[in-house]
Order: sequence, then structure tokens, then C-alpha cells
Amino acid sequence: MIAPSILSADFARLADEVAAVPGADWLHVDVMDAHFVPNLTIGLPVVEALLRVTDIPLDCHLMIDDPDTWAVRYAEAGAHNVTVHVEAAADPVRIAKQVRAEGARAGLSVKPNTPLEPYVELLRHYDTLLVMSVEPGFGGQKFIPEVLAKVRAARRLVDGGELTVLVEIDGGINEDTIEQAAAAGVDCFVAGSAVYGAADPAATVAGLRRAAAAASGRN
Ligand code: DX5
Ligand code: ZN
Repeated sequence: MIAPSILSADFARLADEVAAVPGADWLHVDVMDAHFVPNLTIGLPVVEALLRVTDIPLDCHLMIDDPDTWAVRYAEAGAHNVTVHVEAAADPVRIAKQVRAEGARAGLSVKPNTPLEPYVELLRHYDTLLVMSVEPGFGGQKFIPEVLAKVRAARRLVDGGELTVLVEIDGGINEDTIEQAAAAGVDCFVAGSAVYGAADPAATVAGLRRAAAAASGRN
């Protein structure tokens, strides 16, 4: 699965930018509050506006200090997947239950230096695991390959039947880095600058999908 991140899109033309990636599986929406990360982006009103102009499922990535208050609001609005950071969540089990009760998938994200092992039990309450492959906050950063150890560990747990999460990666994914991520076992690839920095975003989504499929050996 390919999830273009609109963080690198032209915010003045968001509906057109969404229409430029018709082949996207999910549309990744980076919500930042200038507290959890040193950047401020978009919030619930823009998500509600996007839902009115696209049928592509929205993948909302909440990089905010208070996901315990806000995650359920994105699910209520109609987001398909709502991801919170384990570093910020006070009661992640409660968040997952609230999000799922609204009919959305619940995602849990780990920053590059956050280990996975302490959260394996917690992930039984979640549908997606978002492994950050850059420090959250900005698009266009360099991929951190060391995080692939967490992807491999998660892949083993899923393939062994211990977890049922979809494994997603976010940060620095492009035609050069997607193959190693796919080989490590990623299911869903977020790509911002690689897609929206390209002359043809739709063709780039298709190219990323081909590269990932070839490297993963899976469908
Ligand atoms: C960074 C965001 C990413 C960002 C990725 O904090 O979570 O989703 O848009 O951008 P690229 O693909 O340019 O690294
Ligand atoms: Zn993101």
C-alpha cells in the first residue's frame, strides 16, 4: 500500500493535490501541534474538508501532545485510520477502544529511538503500527535505516500470529529507500516529498508500488 503524505502538497490547492494521486491506497494527513513536534500543520477542520472531496481513506497521523482528547474526534469525523504516538498517549488502550468504537482503525506510532518490545502487548489493541523512519516534524528528511530492525521484529510477530497489525513506515521513503523497507516487511509506505515533489505524482505512486512489490516478494 502507498499512502502519499499531503504534508508536501500545496496547501492552497489541497483538493487538486488529492485528486493528483488517484491510485493512492490511503492519504496520509500529518497533524502537528507545535508541542509534540516543533511544527504546526493542520487539524480537524481541514480533515473534515478533505473528507468532503475524496473517497481515498484518510490516514491521520497525530503528532500532538494530547491524543487522549483528540484521537476519537478524528475517528468521529470519518478518518479511516487514526494513529497516535506512544510517547504522547496517557492511556493508549482507552484511545484504541474509543477510535475503534467509532469504526476507525487505531494506529500506534514509535519515533526512531523508541523501542518496540515494551509495547508489544499494547499493540494487541491496535490495527496499525507506524514506524517512524525520520524524527517526526518535517517532510524531506533522510531515511534512518536502523529502524528497519523494528519492522523486521513486527513482521515476525505478525507472521507468527502474535499480532495482527499492519506495518506502516513514515519518513524518507522514495525510489531509493522503499526496496529495503519492503524487504524488511513493511505493508504500507508513507511518502510525502517523493510524491508531491515529483513532476507526476500519480506515476510516482505507481512506481513506488512496483518497486515495493518487487522487493517484498509478497502481493
Ligand atoms: C514527518 C511526517 C511524514 C512526512 C514524510 O513528521 O510524519 O508523514 O510527511 O515526508 P517525507 O516522505 O518527505 O519524508
Ligand atoms: Zn506522518
